[in-house]
Amino acid sequence: MPPPALRAPESLPTDLEGEIRRLKDEQNAVLLAHYYQEDEIQDLADFVGDSLALVQAAKRVDRDVIVFCGVHFMAETAKILNPTRKVVVPDLEAGCSLADGCPPDEFRAFIEAHPGAKVLSYINTSAEVKALSDLICTSSNAVGMLKHFEGQKVIFAPDRHLGRWVAKESGRDDLIIWPGICIVHEQFSARGLAELKMRHPDAEVLAHPECDDAVLAQADHVASTTGIIRRAVESPAETLIIATEDGVFHQIERKLEAEGRRKTILQAPGMDEGCSCNRCPFMRLNTLEKLYLCLRDLEPEVTVPEDVRVRALEPIELMLELSA
Ligand code: 13P
Ligand code: SF4
Repeated sequence: MPPPALRAPESLPTDLEGEIRRLKDEQNAVLLAHYYQEDEIQDLADFVGDSLALVQAAKRVDRDVIVFCGVHFMAETAKILNPTRKVVVPDLEAGCSLADGCPPDEFRAFIEAHPGAKVLSYINTSAEVKALSDLICTSSNAVGMLKHFEGQKVIFAPDRHLGRWVAKESGRDDLIIWPGICIVHEQFSARGLAELKMRHPDAEVLAHPECDDAVLAQADHVASTTGIIRRAVESPAETLIIATEDGVFHQIERKLEAEGRRKTILQAPGMDEGCSCNRCPFMRLNTLEKLYLCLRDLEPEVTVPEDVRVRALEPIELMLELSA
């Protein structure tokens, strides 16, 4: 049998950024990007934000096509809100350890094992899991969303660290927490952070609530990516230690630069010295090249079965209403 024909490598335009801008207009597309995208993608986006802001932006879209530079659950959420628009992503493999670690069938069984409990799910879940939930939250509104279920039994899924932090902030010790983790935030080393703090005693530590308890205990501020960026700019500290994906550095530096300021920004150390573990391997699957091809060909497309979409829409809409 003859060997399979080799596909010639795609020839890409030299001015990728210019072509992406041109195609965005030609295809009547809007480009939404999370803060964990590479700098060039953030700079090309029509809107850059955290998970909550991106849902709110997706709700306002008036173009035919949404190009989502983030991970799959984010694009899926945009599709749930925009069933008549085309939603495409640069790489369909851009998943998330939290969403992937909470399979719908197992989650359904978990809910059945706790009859009467309300289900508060983090947005980092599949559409099927959202469809099994009463309310969705993001890292920036989780504490507020939990208040909606005061006095009631609540299942929180799927991030155990965020769940524990939300429980502590809310003074609740009865949350039933699904034991998922974010592989990026889980890898920050509490010991390494303590050592770094000793070397920089004036530094302020900013951490995302997906980090382990022992890391959060050493943070001056715990916040979503938007909260971290805002505090990094507003803080009087000249040195910052940041425990989240390092895509946020770009926005912090841009905002400081706009005010003619600079700060020393240090990454919180990982367990594995010298690795680039604080880059989300899923988010970073998106590249300028794949973004160009995605805009040119309008694929790969993200779809959601209509019955799942309709059920998943309800808890998302409730979150948007409660966060307004
Ligand atoms: P936020 O955008 O809500 O800060 O969440 C970060 C994250 O890990 C997204 O996957
Ligand atoms: Fe998922 Fe963590 Fe990557 Fe966010 S940073 S997409 S939670 S794996």
